[in-house]
Amino acid sequence: MTWKPYYHGDGEQRQTPLAEPPPWRTFPRTPQFRQYQPPRGLADAVNAALHLRRPLLVTGPAGSGKSTVIEQVAHELGLGQVLRWHITSRSTLADALYRYDALGRIHAQNLQTAISRRAGARTHGRSGGRALDDIAPFLQLGPLGTALLPAERPRALLIDEIDKGDLDLPGDLLEVLERGEYEIPELVRYRRPMVKVRQWDSRTECLIEHGRVQCAQFPFIVLTSNGERDFPPAFLRRCIRYNMPKLSAQLLQDIVRAHFERVPDNGGQTLIDQFAERVDRGEHLAVDQLLNAVALLTGDPAPSGEQRIELHDLLMRELSRA
Ligand SMILES: Nc1ncnc2c1ncn2[C@@H]1O[C@H](COP(=O)(O)OP(=O)(O)OP(=O)(O)O)[C@@H](O)[C@H]1O
Ligand SMILES: [Mg+2]
Repeated sequence: MTWKPYYHGDGEQRQTPLAEPPPWRTFPRTPQFRQYQPPRGLADAVNAALHLRRPLLVTGPAGSGKSTVIEQVAHELGLGQVLRWHITSRSTLADALYRYDALGRIHAQNLQTAISRRAGARTHGRSGGRALDDIAPFLQLGPLGTALLPAERPRALLIDEIDKGDLDLPGDLLEVLERGEYEIPELVRYRRPMVKVRQWDSRTECLIEHGRVQCAQFPFIVLTSNGERDFPPAFLRRCIRYNMPKLSAQLLQDIVRAHFERVPDNGGQTLIDQFAERVDRGEHLAVDQLLNAVALLTGDPAPSGEQRIELHDLLMRELSRA
């Protein structure tokens, strides 16, 4: 990457075109399955989870590659696009299974009734009433609900940052993860046994019978956690657990090579060595800080002198402070 100033702070307008972004900041985002370098022991943990049909709980500090693991696994095994459920304090199991827009359905029914009345149609008859009562457009499966649809190949599901969720969430998940099934009560009660419902990540519809979904293949699930909280033993015993190890100098070198094809000449190795030393001393730094520094400081031309030192400090600040 070539270093050039875009912003000068002088209020002058210049139409300088922006250079190409680093490959990991192009949009739409390209999955990182080629660049990902699994740390020691991760492949065994993934394979154990796949063999045993259990979710994999990956714990580690920010930027240690927890959310990226699944992209490589899904690609290597041909599991299709990764389904993503990003957990916040407001996330619920119900939302992850399916969403039902009850208000939207009532509004649509009222609108249809008004239009039909104005057109003088008979809306009180059986056929008219039924035509108005279509539940399908108001239902959509969530990421977990879609992952559990019966299919020949398992789907890949990322349940990201489970430790940011409500305290009850891991407990709520137990039953679904154990049995691989769920119910949509609105469809169990519905007059038609078969209803086509939209999936989470596409316009594709799936046929749901009597409001019940039962997986045929347990999905490959990765749950990630920054370790901000403990989980109940009943939840932990159902997962294969893997803790991201401390980043070694060798792994950092492999990661830089994977992203830049080689370690860039212009100070690339020094950046890696300094980063590895700081991580070894227990400083809280993330891999993408190293990638940012290599991208910005090893180009041609690259910032030099005082400016290089200041930019290096800016990019390599510990994550324990803003
Ligand atoms: N082992 C690795 N091999 C290649 N790239 C890596 C590796 N670890 C991290 N990275 C890179 O670092 C960046 C951050 O990774 P990721 O988002 O997976 O981290 P995370 O652990 O999920 O962080 P957070 O807890 O902040 O969500 C990504 O761009 C990823 O490509
Ligand atoms: Mg993450």
